[in-house]
Amino acid sequence: MNIPRKFTARWKEVVFCLLALFTAGATGLYAGQVRGEAEFKEHCSECHFAGGNIVKATKTLSERDRVRNGVVSANDILKIMRAPGEGMTRFDEKTVPEEEARKIADYIIATFK
Ligand code: HEC
Repeated sequence: MNIPRKFTARWKEVVFCLLALFTAGATGLYAGQVRGEAEFKEHCSECHFAGGNIVKATKTLSERDRVRNGVVSANDILKIMRAPGEGMTRFDEKTVPEEEARKIADYIIATFK
């Protein structure tokens, strides 16, 4: 193939840029996961160890229980954190700000099947 040199000379830069973007994106995602997990362990694990529920066995964080109880989306989980049912600690904006609450919710959905 006869591709002009002025294009081929830049391929390394293009590959480098794509790799850099990809690495940054992947690292960002991973950091979110890790933080969600850390926050979950800090605030929720005492009652929801490994996604269970030591206070009320029918309300674990497993997908099966959650869906049965109508807790499907990250927003549903957030609502419970802000206004929980009986026996659960309430987590307000001061204890767990919006962004962290969302990371915890995403972590729960991604982790407990
Ligand atoms: C002191 C114990 C305790 C802590 C700490 C706790 N929970 Fe709970 N959680 C409960 C109890 C008890 C219920 C069931 C309440 C009810 O009857 O509605 C529950 C229910 C839930 C549910 C609904 C599950 C279902 O299947 O219906 C979600 C989601 C949830 N908790 C998330 C969290 C998150 C996120 C945290 C941490 C930020 C947390 N909980 C911390 C005790 C706790």
